[in-house]
Amino acid sequence: MKSFPVLRIILCGFGVVGQSLSKLLLSRAEDLYARYGLKPRIVGVYDSKGSAVDSSGLDLNQLLQVKKKNGTIKKYRTEKSNVKVIDMISSLDADVLIEATSSNYKDAEPGMSHITEAMKGGLSVITVNKGPLALAFPSLTELATYNHVMLRFSGTVGGGTPILDYAKNSLQGERITSFDGILNGTTNYILTNMTNGMTFESALADARKKGYVEADESLDIDALDAAAKLVILANWIMGMKVTMPDINRTGIRDVTTEDIKHATEKKCAVKLIASCNRELVVGPREISVNDPLCVNGTLNAITFNSEHSGQQTIIGKGAGGMETASSILRDLLDIRQGMLNH
Ligand SMILES: NC(=O)c1ccc[n+]([C@@H]2O[C@H](COP(=O)([O-])OP(=O)(O)OC[C@H]3O[C@@H](n4cnc5c(N)ncnc54)[C@H](OP(=O)(O)O)[C@@H]3O)[C@@H](O)[C@H]2O)c1
Repeated sequence: MKSFPVLRIILCGFGVVGQSLSKLLLSRAEDLYARYGLKPRIVGVYDSKGSAVDSSGLDLNQLLQVKKKNGTIKKYRTEKSNVKVIDMISSLDADVLIEATSSNYKDAEPGMSHITEAMKGGLSVITVNKGPLALAFPSLTELATYNHVMLRFSGTVGGGTPILDYAKNSLQGERITSFDGILNGTTNYILTNMTNGMTFESALADARKKGYVEADESLDIDALDAAAKLVILANWIMGMKVTMPDINRTGIRDVTTEDIKHATEKKCAVKLIASCNRELVVGPREISVNDPLCVNGTLNAITFNSEHSGQQTIIGKGAGGMETASSILRDLLDIRQGMLNH
C-alpha cells in the first residue's frame, strides 16, 4: 500500500495565512513526520507580484526572509519567477493546491480559477478563501466529485475553531434543524465597544487601528464575510444548494447607540447574527446577555439546534494567521488520509 509521506503543495497567496502556514510547517516538520509520517513540501508559491518554484521543495526559511525584505517572493532564487498558477499546475508534479489569496465576492478571482484549474488537473484543494465557495459552492463540490479529488475548507468558518468539523463529524447521525452564529469577529468587536459606550464611528476607527478590519471594510461592516460563511455552513452542514444571492443580508452600519441602549435596558445585546432557520438571514439582532451565543470582543460563537441532542454552542477565536494555518494542517492530514484510503 502507498504511504504518501511527501505531499507536494502549490501555495497561492503568501500573506498573513500563507506565511503563518510556512512557519507552522517549519516548526512542526519533525513532529508531522514522527506522528503522521507526513512530509509536506511546498513546490510552488504565488503572490500578487510573482512566483517561486522548485520542484524539489522550496526553502521556507529563505522564502519568509525574501518576502519580509522585498514584499514579494519574486526575488527568491528560483528556477523561474513569473510562472502562473495555471502553468504550475500543469508543469509541477503536485498533489494539493492551497488557495489563500484575498476573498472577493464579485467574481471570486483569482481564487476561482486557481481552484477549478487545480481540480481539473487532478489536484485536491484546500481553500481559506471564501469568495469561490460563497459564489459557487454547489458547482465546486460537484467539480471535485467529478474529478475524484478532495475539496476542503475548514479555515473558512471559525478560523482555527473546528466549527465545520464539529457539525459534520461530531454530530454525525444527528439531524441539525437550525443554527445561529456570530461569525464575524470584527463586527462583534465593534458592537461590543458600542455596548461599552462608543459610537459606531469611534468603534470602527478603533477596530481599524487594531488591524481587525479588512482592507475593504464593506466585507465586514456590510456583512459580506458573515454571509459567505453562512453560505458555506448551509451547503456543507444542511445540504442546501445556495450561494450569496440567497442570503437576506443587512450589515451593522445603521445600528445606533439608541438601539444598543434599548437592548441593554432589556438585559440584551445587539449582535450580528447569521441564522439558518427556514430562511438564511444575516443581520443585527437582540439576544439575551445570558444566551451562550452572547460572546464579546472578536470571539465567534455558533449554536446548533439538533433533533435529539438539543442545543450546543461552540465558542472560539474566529480568525488569526496561525489559527487558520492550523486548520489548513488539519485539512492536509485529512486529504492525506483520503489518499491512503484510496
Ligand atoms: N487572516 C485570517 O485570519 C483569515 C482567516 C480565515 C480566512 N482568511 C482568508 O484567507 C485568505 C488570505 O488571508 P490573509 O489574511 O493571508 O490575506 P493577505 O495577508 O491580504 O494575503 C493575501 C495574499 O494574496 C495575494 N493576492 C492578492 N490578490 C492577488 C492576485 N490578484 N493575484 C495573486 N495573488 C494575490 C497577496 O499578494 P501580495 O502578498 O503580493 O499582496 C497576498 O500574498 C483571504 O481570502 C481571507 O479572507 C483569512
